[in-house]
Amino acid sequence: KTGLLGIDIGGTKTAIVLSASPPNVLWREEFETLPALGAEHAVRRILTLARRGVEETGCISAAIGVSCGGPLDRVRGIIQRPPNLPTWDDIPIKDILEQEFGVPCFVENDANAGAVAENRFGAGKGCRHMVFLTMGTGLGAGLILNGQIFHGANAMAGEIGHVRLTDSGPMGYGKTGSVEGWASGGGMAQHAASSVQEALQAGKFTMLAEALPDITARDVGQALLAGDSVAAQIVRRTGWRLGEALAILVDVLNPQRIVIGGLALRFGEALLEPARQRMREEALADTAAVCEIVSAALGERIGDVAALCVAMGLHTNPDAA
Ligand code: BGC
Ligand code: NA
Repeated sequence: KTGLLGIDIGGTKTAIVLSASPPNVLWREEFETLPALGAEHAVRRILTLARRGVEETGCISAAIGVSCGGPLDRVRGIIQRPPNLPTWDDIPIKDILEQEFGVPCFVENDANAGAVAENRFGAGKGCRHMVFLTMGTGLGAGLILNGQIFHGANAMAGEIGHVRLTDSGPMGYGKTGSVEGWASGGGMAQHAASSVQEALQAGKFTMLAEALPDITARDVGQALLAGDSVAAQIVRRTGWRLGEALAILVDVLNPQRIVIGGLALRFGEALLEPARQRMREEALADTAAVCEIVSAALGERIGDVAALCVAMGLHTNPDAA
């Protein structure tokens, strides 16, 4: 039987999936990306696991889709210098995979791939104008405008993570106070560390003190569930800043819906409610009124389905060359 191979490369984990009928997944395996080990290590693991998947399922893949954070050269299939994979530099992933498997491989920005996946199978069904935000280690946006993915002049459209919100603040995408600094998993980790320091100096108790110095968004999630007030404040502030980024998107693009993955799945309304509130304060009343802010309906499967959509060729704008 034939199927599709999807590879979702993230700053924290990489997943390899096989499917005979997306969005369903036949086989899946993941590993920690560990940027410190470099690209070669990750590429070797990808090849080994993909071969194993084909063997175990007897499913021969007809095409391969790679979804990865930018910047990347989606046409030549080269992963350039993703801010969250700092040791990766010009990795010709398309050539590597095509040589190994002898089938076409397509490469797309993870946020764009996620936008296509949610538009086709998730919370963006039927939306002609929507934005998808990845909110993992990094923050990126995929734009669907007039029913089609929008790539821009050199396929960099949607890099809202790079936009500066405040003069100082957590660092993301090489900039302090950027949207990625304030509203991503990596940014939340920095923001959490400074908030916990402040709380301790003020003599407040927080269970996050135990997680110092490397507090992760996951730690914040656990503390929130346990009713920790410092964790609640961190999530509220992240939501607030996310809302400011949403207001920019809403005012510039006038989308019907903004669908959010990553942290929005983990924190749910604790993050989304302050984000919506801040968006409504900051955006024009008329653009805010028509835009729904929701979390990804594909949930934790979003990355898998995104990579499979790339293998299906759904990320390609039919009007473009
Ligand atoms: C990258 C984006 C990507 C996002 C999520 C950002 O740091 O620049 O291209 O979509 O992270 O991975
Ligand atoms: Na994008």
